[in-house]
Amino acid sequence: MIPHEAIGSIFDTARIEEVVGDFVSLKRRGSNLVGLCPFHNERTPSFHVSPVKGIYKCFGCGKAGNSVNFVMEHEKFTYPEALRYLAKKYHIDIQEEEETAEQVQEKTAREGLSVVSEYAGKYFAEQLFDSDEGKSVGLSYFHERGFSDDTIKKFQLGYSHEEWDIFTKTALKNGYSIEMLEKTGLTIVKDDKHYDRFRGRVMFPIHSQAGRVIGFGGRILTSDKTKPKYVNSPESEIYNKSKVLYGIAFAKNAIAANDMCFLVEGYTDVISMHQAGIQNVVSSSGTSLTTDQIRMIKRYTPNITILYDGDPAGIKASFRGIDMILEQGMNVKVVLFPDGEDPDSFARTRRSSEVSEFISENSKDFIHFKIDLLLKETGRDPLKRVAVLKDFIESISLIPDRLTRLAYVKESADRMQMDEQAVLSELNKVMRKKFSQKTGASEAEAALMEPPPGFFESEQQESTEKLSTEWQEKEIIRQLLLFGEEPIEVEYPDETTGKPVKRSTKVAQFIISDIRHDEISFSNPLYQKIFDAGSKTLDETEDLDYRKLTNHPDTELTQAVIDLIATKYTFSPNWERKKIRLALETEILDVHVPRCILSFKSKRVRQLMQEIEAKIKDAPTMEVQLELMQHYMNVQKVVNAIDFNLGRTIV
Ligand code: UTP
Ligand code: MN
Repeated sequence: MIPHEAIGSIFDTARIEEVVGDFVSLKRRGSNLVGLCPFHNERTPSFHVSPVKGIYKCFGCGKAGNSVNFVMEHEKFTYPEALRYLAKKYHIDIQEEEETAEQVQEKTAREGLSVVSEYAGKYFAEQLFDSDEGKSVGLSYFHERGFSDDTIKKFQLGYSHEEWDIFTKTALKNGYSIEMLEKTGLTIVKDDKHYDRFRGRVMFPIHSQAGRVIGFGGRILTSDKTKPKYVNSPESEIYNKSKVLYGIAFAKNAIAANDMCFLVEGYTDVISMHQAGIQNVVSSSGTSLTTDQIRMIKRYTPNITILYDGDPAGIKASFRGIDMILEQGMNVKVVLFPDGEDPDSFARTRRSSEVSEFISENSKDFIHFKIDLLLKETGRDPLKRVAVLKDFIESISLIPDRLTRLAYVKESADRMQMDEQAVLSELNKVMRKKFSQKTGASEAEAALMEPPPGFFESEQQESTEKLSTEWQEKEIIRQLLLFGEEPIEVEYPDETTGKPVKRSTKVAQFIISDIRHDEISFSNPLYQKIFDAGSKTLDETEDLDYRKLTNHPDTELTQAVIDLIATKYTFSPNWERKKIRLALETEILDVHVPRCILSFKSKRVRQLMQEIEAKIKDAPTMEVQLELMQHYMNVQKVVNAIDFNLGRTIV
């Protein structure tokens, strides 16, 4: 645990241009620095760093953040890892709070396993290149498969001898404990005998995301059908099959840079693709894809392309896994390799350019691919076609984004020559059912209930959208952040006479006290969070310096703050225009800020009226109905007053 004060001093000390400058070459432009974005491929720099604001933003891919976000994103660090990295860079002493005895023990156990695994990785690799058996059996096998020495070294491939306990003996002699050897599964202990799990096999070490060896796969070299082709490490405290992707350590940067991850079947596919120059490849190695693995990929990109060998049974078996990817809101494409070829054999026998060309020419959207494949099987049989439609609607219903769902409905209706409206209503039915399962409401109730945003389409969506306060909320928060410290003159009703009088205050004070006074909340929770954090700094320091919020430990919050303040023109290379734009905005603050707040209130109150209207319709008794109508009329007065004010402000 890093203590709170240390976090504060890390944020205060870290200079964005220095932190980024360690990874990106930056050139000065006006008050900013620019360079080539490290998060996507580009030729002309659109990656901006503002030392004054302490933030970076790429106008090409939209990535933005502060020093901590930058190292998190670039080095794939967790939040504490990023803080530790910066603390080290700036020689800030972080005395981490004591860990519990249990935590220490767990950590040492894991470290022990990791040390043994690293050692084994080195040992097997040495044996491959330096021992006679390794060279004549293992190395020649890899060469036959077309792996170059560079590739072999990069993936740290190795060889383990035929002899039944030579690895264990050597490890013990070098001081590694039998407990650790057994826990990693490298050694099998039976009674008081020890023997090696991997014997007479070529070794594929499995690396963690950070690049440490955590397990192994060993491939047999004989054609002995009584023995398994591959033997894999058992699960251990450091090796959890469902949370590991083979090749992720070598692929992660390429995945982020290409904004795409290729998914293949196994070790050899990953390695051959790398050798063919395609580095953004991972495999789930033997097991079917898990949610944890999908999430791991999602840290780097929302785009996955699955590379299949042409076996239809295998493809259909994988559909469930793909549905899970859709559920994570990711975009899935598939590529089908020619009959009898897998990515490994294909990449091995073609030039690199042919491999990439083949992939880009044969990538198909998964949902289309699925319909085509299923339709091919059903032919014209109408009952089977309905079954296909249902199956396919299940897949679409998993996609979290509403517009994406609608696009698929449209295209699939075309492909199946069905009425779009019919497909849509079928989809709504499925989604309602899911909704009622989730919430416990009956289906009839679910149909009446306010749909959670994007849960299912409805014709009423339109009118609630018109009353959405998203724009007003965003604008208020933006004014608060950008101009919080600017002075403004606004009219307040005098406390005793109630007559409006002009008062001087600051934008932040005005916005915060006005919204607090009327006890209005933001419907977007993120804006509420920024508002609350802003109010807190204002209360504490009587000032609202947005830097306090770009250096906030809540990364979701800082991200949103940065997106709001890093508008294109504040980063504009054209200094003059920037100053003019800002000057213009500053000049109209007196009018603009109160207007935004009024317009926000006006919509909020109208939302309230809508709610009351609905209640009036459902009122159980006459009295309740009358009471509600009275309430409605009072609110109406407020609306009129606000509208009057809004009108006056325009004049
Ligand atoms: P293959 O059977 O194609 O393995 O499985 P291979 O080593 O490439 O063998 P040949 O030379 O084509 O005959 C492809 C991938 O599936 C995983 C491995 O990762 C392998 O790279 N696999 C296969 C296993 O994990 N266990 C197995 O028993 C078989
Ligand atoms: Mn193969």
